[in-house]
Amino acid sequence: MAELTHFYQTFQPEHYNIYLDINRATKTISGQTKITGDAQATAINIHQKFLAVSAVQADGQAVPFKLDADNEAIHIDLAKAGKTTLTITYTAPLTDSMMGIYPSYYEVAGEKKQIIGTQFETTAARQAFPCVDEPEAKATFDLAIKFDEHAGETIISNMPEVKTEDGVHYFDTTVKMSTYLIAFAFGELQSKLTETKSGVKIGVFGTKAHKANELDFALDIAKRSIEFYEDFYQTPYPLPHSWQLALPDFSAGAMENWGLVTYREAYLLLDPDNTALDMKQRVATVIAHELAHQWFGDLVTMKWWDDLWLNESFANMMEYVAVDALEPDWHIWETFQTSEAAAALQRDATDGVQSVHVQVENPAEIDALFDGAIVYAKGARMLVMARALVGDEALRKGLKAYFKAHQYGNATGADLWAALGEASGMNVGAIMNSWLEQPGYPVVSASVVDGQLTISQQQFFIGDGQDQGRQWQIPLNSNYQAAPAILAETSATLGDYAQLRADNGQPFRLNVGNNSHFIVKYDQTLLDDILANLDNLTAIDQLQLLQDLRLLAEGRQISYASIVPLLTRFAGSHSTVVNDALYRVAGDLKKFVTPDSNEEKALQGLYDHLSAAQVARLGWTPQAGESNDDQLTRPYVLSAALYAKNSDAVAAAHKLFTANRDRLATLPADTRVFVLRNEVQNFSSVDLFNDLLAASKQTADASFKADIAAALTSTPDDKLIATLIEKFEDAETIKPQDLRAWFRGVLANHAGQQAAWDWIRNDWSWLEATVGGDMEFTTYITVIAGIFRTADRLAEFKAFFEPKLNTPGLTREIQMDIKVITSRVDLVEAEAAAVNDAVAQAIK
Ligand code: BES
Ligand code: ZN
Repeated sequence: MAELTHFYQTFQPEHYNIYLDINRATKTISGQTKITGDAQATAINIHQKFLAVSAVQADGQAVPFKLDADNEAIHIDLAKAGKTTLTITYTAPLTDSMMGIYPSYYEVAGEKKQIIGTQFETTAARQAFPCVDEPEAKATFDLAIKFDEHAGETIISNMPEVKTEDGVHYFDTTVKMSTYLIAFAFGELQSKLTETKSGVKIGVFGTKAHKANELDFALDIAKRSIEFYEDFYQTPYPLPHSWQLALPDFSAGAMENWGLVTYREAYLLLDPDNTALDMKQRVATVIAHELAHQWFGDLVTMKWWDDLWLNESFANMMEYVAVDALEPDWHIWETFQTSEAAAALQRDATDGVQSVHVQVENPAEIDALFDGAIVYAKGARMLVMARALVGDEALRKGLKAYFKAHQYGNATGADLWAALGEASGMNVGAIMNSWLEQPGYPVVSASVVDGQLTISQQQFFIGDGQDQGRQWQIPLNSNYQAAPAILAETSATLGDYAQLRADNGQPFRLNVGNNSHFIVKYDQTLLDDILANLDNLTAIDQLQLLQDLRLLAEGRQISYASIVPLLTRFAGSHSTVVNDALYRVAGDLKKFVTPDSNEEKALQGLYDHLSAAQVARLGWTPQAGESNDDQLTRPYVLSAALYAKNSDAVAAAHKLFTANRDRLATLPADTRVFVLRNEVQNFSSVDLFNDLLAASKQTADASFKADIAAALTSTPDDKLIATLIEKFEDAETIKPQDLRAWFRGVLANHAGQQAAWDWIRNDWSWLEATVGGDMEFTTYITVIAGIFRTADRLAEFKAFFEPKLNTPGLTREIQMDIKVITSRVDLVEAEAAAVNDAVAQAIK
């Protein structure tokens, strides 16, 4: 049989009747799926993975079929094409893979329990039931589920339950939707419910390991998000309910199943009385992200996975648009700058990076598409550019038309550009395609040449890059009228600089507000002018200045040493974004020093110098009524003071620890991690280690758990490091979903690096078997590349990963990460002496 990538071409489903009998005790699923659809030929393909199919019938008659594991298919031979009802009977294993139908484990009062849940995106619905598992193959679904049920259990799904008969739970027929959005879950759940103004039922569900009030924050945000989107999109939410469910084991962060969104616990449940503001903001943006998908992704779905960006970039922008509307005091767009913009600019500067839109045909490569910094962050920046170009009114008008035209169907990027183009009267697609289809981004150089102010664009690289003469249509957002709105050419001359400077009365700037995806390299004249007027810059513009200089230094276009003297000028800022940018540069200086050297001492001196006044101003304890900026800035400066080994800071943290030894979880969540880490680093003992490890196992508070992980992994003690690494493969202590953070912690710890590196190389096959199916699997490699900085480690990295270059899904990551480490090693070699001199000078 000829191989077909898109099974939808041979069989177009209209309706599914899915019956599942799930047995937790025997870890088996038995099922029967009836699919009514239109066969385009007599030889058709249906997706399946790991299913043991015992019978296939077409319109009640047994038909020949063949299972094909390589293509995740059942090949079926029909007697005739046309309208057909297939009945497929099968069994399948229930496995701990966090994919398909899977158990999540937790404890309540020492008793082990589990919840069954699902994760189908991108291609795991086929592990639960046979289907045409492609986003374009939309159909309606009737779900009937039986399980080894006991009293006190609840089952939920995309649609409400309509009846229970003989222990079988029947759910209402869904609207027309894609297979990857089907979901259900059952177990001993608690919930909180409310309703939107328009009558949509909103619910938050979690295990009973949590206090009931941990559901409240999410309930409020979910309700208001649905209300916001119904208004913003001018399109009603089409289902009777919107359930949010926290699962104790979850491979991704959250998943937008239509009507039943699933989350890792850390991203849904929180203690309203002790959660750091940035964590609340994170939870709110995650909920807003998934609920943005209920329309953009669920109601209208990308036609094929190459347009995955259409789903994810859009939801990534909307999470900020929505949260900014719900909680204006948070200034959430500042977080967009410190997280999305920073991530996109970093990753997109490495040659070999993917473009936002990526051709993909082979289903095995689909999961490799999820480069968060590109598909999410860069894509969201691109849409922020589009939003700035057309304005909110045209955006909303365009979206309403887009939803109307494609609802319960599929769309491509071109359809979105067409709708926005129609609404705005602009050729949005022409501008956006240069960002969508090309990898990388430009550096715009601004200089005064022979008295003329000139600008030019060229692709920016960190590390070796092959200039292919790429050009972008760049929204310049200059503060000088003389600059064009869009730079589409290689260069432009704006006029006589002296005259322009006099007319404008302020330094020349580009990308004001930092909403376009490019960086600026000002010549010395222009940069000096900006620096002389620093106080006139907004916080975001200051962040941008530091960020662009840092990137230019990483790209070897300016010297790193030249940035060091500037740092003190930002140290007094009360703005979180400025402090974020400042301490990011400061953090980058760590790669130039070796542990326990004089250079490290000097750098610690610089950290002390930068942070001392702010530590004195803010103190260790959050104050009632303080500003958001103060709350969010405190962690940066305390962390700096501890890196500096400032003796007052070390003593203050120790005192807080001692005073709260019996109730560490109640330490203020904003600063708790520093108190714990300080203790582990400076007052290490086996008892402390064991107590913290036990607390981490026992707590249901994800923030506290993460703080303990950060503390324990920073231990200087070899033996304790060895003990920790033994726990890496013990799911009872460290859940596979959390392992990457523990691994990163130990690898980043000088005392633990060798052991962590040995572990991952020795046990790579265990890791592959445990989390290899996870869409974030490659980020284990990214984590390593983010830390290594010596020629020896680079050689070891290559020796280990180069032989894996042909592993499906790993190729690009390995190639890029070799570049990332190589460029860091070269940078350190070339500039360490000058940087360390500059640090020594700065603290004189
Ligand atoms: N649809 C994704 C989750 C997903 C993507 C699951 C690909 C499986 C394969 C979801 O909407 C998402 O983007 N989740 C993010 C969190 C989000 C708030 C940025 C995630 O899981 O990282
Ligand atoms: Zn998403």
